[in-house]
Amino acid sequence: MISQKMQDAINNQIQAELASAYLYLSMAAYCEKENMKGFGQWLRVQYQEETGHAMKLLDYLLERGGQPLLKAIDAPPAEFGSWLSMFEKVLSHEQHVTALIHSLYEVALAERDYASQIFLQWYISEQVEEEASASEIVERLKMLQDNSGALFYLDKELGKRKED
Ligand code: FEO
Repeated sequence: MISQKMQDAINNQIQAELASAYLYLSMAAYCEKENMKGFGQWLRVQYQEETGHAMKLLDYLLERGGQPLLKAIDAPPAEFGSWLSMFEKVLSHEQHVTALIHSLYEVALAERDYASQIFLQWYISEQVEEEASASEIVERLKMLQDNSGALFYLDKELGKRKED
């Protein structure tokens, strides 16, 4: 059986992952409305990944005999400004999620929940990748500045992203 504290913390993280999914879906819609279909595709895949992160937590909680409790998710913004500022928001959001995962891991340590510690290591590694990929796009957008040809190329490249 999983402890009540661990269960509550995992349920909070399920909410955070689904809120991330919702945020990225809104960003995808914004990009596609502005004809940046490649950026939209990258963000749609990100949406699916976040949903996957939530599902993995939910399945784990069930496996441990816990009770998944779904919480309300706030509406995300619908406008995100420039492409650079939108991807800066992706990066800062991922940094926020990393901090949440680290806090979750600290609950597993305090609870001496060894199974959860092992389970959560996957999320710790995943966050390293999540931050690195967002950071790479931010850096590339900074290099592009107002070069619309290069922006077109980056849009095409991000559009190649497929779900794992
Ligand atoms: Fe599920 Fe992007 O963190």
